[in-house]
Amino acid sequence: MNPGHRPRVFVTHSMAGLARMVDRDPLAPLHERTECVVWPGPLQPEPRALREAATDCEGLLCLLTDRVDGDVIGAARSLRVISSCSVGVDHIDVAAATARGIRVGFTPGVLTETTADLAFALLLAASRRIVEADGAVRSGAWTPDRRWQLDGFLGRDLHASTLGLVGLGPIAQAVASRAHGFGMRILGWSRSPHRLPGVEQVELDALLAGSDFVSVHVALAEETHGLIDADAFARIRPGAVLVNTSRGGIVDELALVAALRSGRVAAAGLDVFATEPLPADSPLLGLDNVVLTPHIGSASTATRLRMADLAVENLLAGVLGRPLRDCANDAELAAR
Ligand code: DGY
Repeated sequence: MNPGHRPRVFVTHSMAGLARMVDRDPLAPLHERTECVVWPGPLQPEPRALREAATDCEGLLCLLTDRVDGDVIGAARSLRVISSCSVGVDHIDVAAATARGIRVGFTPGVLTETTADLAFALLLAASRRIVEADGAVRSGAWTPDRRWQLDGFLGRDLHASTLGLVGLGPIAQAVASRAHGFGMRILGWSRSPHRLPGVEQVELDALLAGSDFVSVHVALAEETHGLIDADAFARIRPGAVLVNTSRGGIVDELALVAALRSGRVAAAGLDVFATEPLPADSPLLGLDNVVLTPHIGSASTATRLRMADLAVENLLAGVLGRPLRDCANDAELAAR
């Protein structure tokens, strides 16, 4: 590459809010080394605008809310790298990128502990009815005649119960280490064998039937779409609590609503949904036994900064012809 060449890159989000919070612009290295175009809007570009903006770029930095589909990739004839500020890459047509020899950067590792923290927060909040109880205090329902009720806000114990981990990747393992501290027995299911201390690897059916708490930690792919469906809820231990911090598409939401209504599932903690933001007419909104958060698994300042820095690092490496620190399609590209 010509040493004076400044590759053109397109960034779909200014990261201004994060920059203000940390008093540093995560995009600064891109401004120094590339012809960097940052989408100016407060919202990210619509699909057509994204396609047009990416047309003459060598690098594209996106968020998980950008759909980088075959059309975008097909139109971007000079594209060499797509770098997502996320660990999930289900918003990117990775097969189309691979077919064109385009590397796909992502941000694993840096958000593992923070996401595990949220999964655990949801396990606790859903099982101990924290949000419902908070609502009761705020609404004035905590009255002198209900000062301390023997049967008030009864929930489920995490300690000494069984946690089932669907998926045994790094985030599931980080949840397992927290669960060990709570004295939980841990069952785990994964398509590939794992030998993890203190985790009994079992079939999915055995996990569902044997767990008081089920936490979902698989990536969204064709094989995992709808993995926790009506059939799974028919096999889940009655009164189980379900937590999902992975991707909404893995759990069949209508089947979950039915299970929550019938009491088959006692409670759920959900950070991710089939459609985000959650539509105003979602039946989940009418249920008291669900804790809902708006896809904030990785939302600590330190972690979001690490994700932004890594996404920038991956993008720069890609346009400068160096290996990416984290490339989601390395193996597929090597096998071409
Ligand atoms: C990711 O990076 O894929 C997470 O969902 C963000 O929290």
